[in-house]
Amino acid sequence: MNKAITKATIPGLFVTGTDTGIGKTIVAAAIAAILRAEGMDVGVWKPVQSGEKIGNGMTDAERLLHLSGIHDRPEVVAPFTFEAPLTPMLAAKQSGVALTLKELIAAGAPLVDRYQALIVEGAGGVAVPLTEDAFVADFIAELRMPAVIVARSGLGTINHTLLTVSYLKKLGVHIIGIIMNDIEHIETIDDPSMAHNAELIERYSGLKVLGRIPRLDNAGYSVTLIPIFREKIELAPIRDAIAAQIMGG
Ligand SMILES: Nc1ncnc2c1ncn2[C@@H]1O[C@H](COP(=O)(O)OP(=O)(O)O)[C@@H](O)[C@H]1O
Ligand SMILES: [Mg+2]
Repeated sequence: MNKAITKATIPGLFVTGTDTGIGKTIVAAAIAAILRAEGMDVGVWKPVQSGEKIGNGMTDAERLLHLSGIHDRPEVVAPFTFEAPLTPMLAAKQSGVALTLKELIAAGAPLVDRYQALIVEGAGGVAVPLTEDAFVADFIAELRMPAVIVARSGLGTINHTLLTVSYLKKLGVHIIGIIMNDIEHIETIDDPSMAHNAELIERYSGLKVLGRIPRLDNAGYSVTLIPIFREKIELAPIRDAIAAQIMGG
């Protein structure tokens, strides 16, 4: 929607998803932790968050820092935090703040200075209003960051994922791949679609599914999450895309 702002180029990766509660925070944190363990100087950024107050450990900024093991201040990682459990644009409005893409990008400057690259977590999915005239997808395009899409593994995911892919492609966003997450899979419930979803998504999107995260008992703990992520998710395309941006200045 918003075309007026000069393109900013911030090295990094944008982690978006087909929905809220799909696994963006755990995926962003795991990627940051693993790349940092390999010596890459990446930070985390949650440009806007709503629904919780910083201090209780429940905000995405606090969870990103905790899970990735990065020592930074949640107020810097999430410069705009609104308590109302509403879509960011409305939550901001209720607090008397009219967000713009320019302000959102400017608020990330301390993080851009501090790290070589940023793993950015979006809010909700790509068609979530961030400002009066911009969706999350517009923000990703404005940042000129490549994206990964976190998608559920079960029934319904083909539709959500292909719509997300086509929306991002329309805006010229480079998509590195898709990470499937067994977020709602319970052992006792048989979902025969799961075996085929990744393959069909690859066929119709032309993109790579980088792997599938199994249902975890303790997804909120890095000791559980990170080894599983290493084992199940192909990180090379993400690593290469970020390294190329860092080297390209
Ligand atoms: N594979 C999984 N198995 C079990 N719980 C998961 C899994 N993936 C995510 N979760 C949990 O589901 C919730 C939503 O995940 P989160 O990463 O916060 O999603 P989002 O950032 O997209 O809203 C969190 O409590 C998280 O720990
Ligand atoms: Mg989140």
